[in-house]
Amino acid sequence: MTASTLPAHIAIIMDGNGRWAVSRGYPRFYGHIRGAARVREIVQECRTLGVRALTLYAFSTENWKRPDEELSVLWTLLRKYIRREVSELKKNGIRLRVIGEWSRLPEEARRELGAAMETLAGGQEMDLVFALSYGARAELTDAVRKIASECEHGTLRSSEINEATVESRLWTSELGRFSDVDFMIRTSGERRLSNFLLWQCSYAEFDFPDTLWPDFTVQEFRRCLERYGARKRRFGGI
Ligand code: FPP
Repeated sequence: MTASTLPAHIAIIMDGNGRWAVSRGYPRFYGHIRGAARVREIVQECRTLGVRALTLYAFSTENWKRPDEELSVLWTLLRKYIRREVSELKKNGIRLRVIGEWSRLPEEARRELGAAMETLAGGQEMDLVFALSYGARAELTDAVRKIASECEHGTLRSSEINEATVESRLWTSELGRFSDVDFMIRTSGERRLSNFLLWQCSYAEFDFPDTLWPDFTVQEFRRCLERYGARKRRFGGI
C-alpha cells in the first residue's frame, strides 16, 4: 500500500455485532463489547498507515429504537474507550470529532466526549470521527436550515449558493479537504448506506466484506485496502 493508493478518508459501518453474538448464544450486547475491541485495532492501524480521517458509524438516528439495556451498554463502551484510549490518541496526534445529534446522548457520555475532544483538539496527524445519533438526512436538513437562515438575515444571497456553501455547513466541514469519503466499508455483507454520509460519499469507493464486525481483523482491513488500491477512480472523467 503506497501513499498514493491509500484512501485519505475511510468511513466504516461497523455492522453485525448483534448477529455475531446471537449466533454464538450470547446476548446482543456482547457483540458490541467484542466490536469495541476492533475499534481500537482499526484506529491504530489507520494511524500507522497514514490515513488522514476515519469516520466510524457507531450509532444512527434509527438506533434509538433499540432496547434501553443495549443502549446503555453502547454508552458504557464509548466511555470506556475514551477513558482507556485518550492518552494513546493524544500521543499519536489524533484529533477526536463527533458528528450527529449527540446532544441526545446521556449526560455522562456527552461530558466525557466533550472533555476528550478538548484534550485532543491539537491532534494534527489524523481525525477520528464518531458518528453518534447521526443521520445524513438530518445533517443535510440542518445545512439547508442554516443556509435559509443566512439568506433571511441578508448575510447570504441565494444566487451565491454553490456546492462549497453546502459543504461548509455540513457537520463534516471541520475535516476540510478530507471531508469527502474516499473509501466506505460496511461489514456483515449488507450492501446499504443506511443514511450515512450521503453527500460525502458522492465519489467514494465501496467494499462490503461478509465478515461480522467483531471478527473484522486488521488483516482483513488490509485486504480491503488492497482492493481499494487496485481500483481506478475516475471521478466522472475517462
Ligand atoms: C451495528 O451492529 C453496530 C452498532 C449499532 C454499534 C457499533 C458499536 C460498536 C462497535 C461499539 C462502540 C464502541 C465505540 C468505541 C464507539 P448491529 O447491532 O446492528 O448488528 P446486527 O445487524 O447483526 O444486529
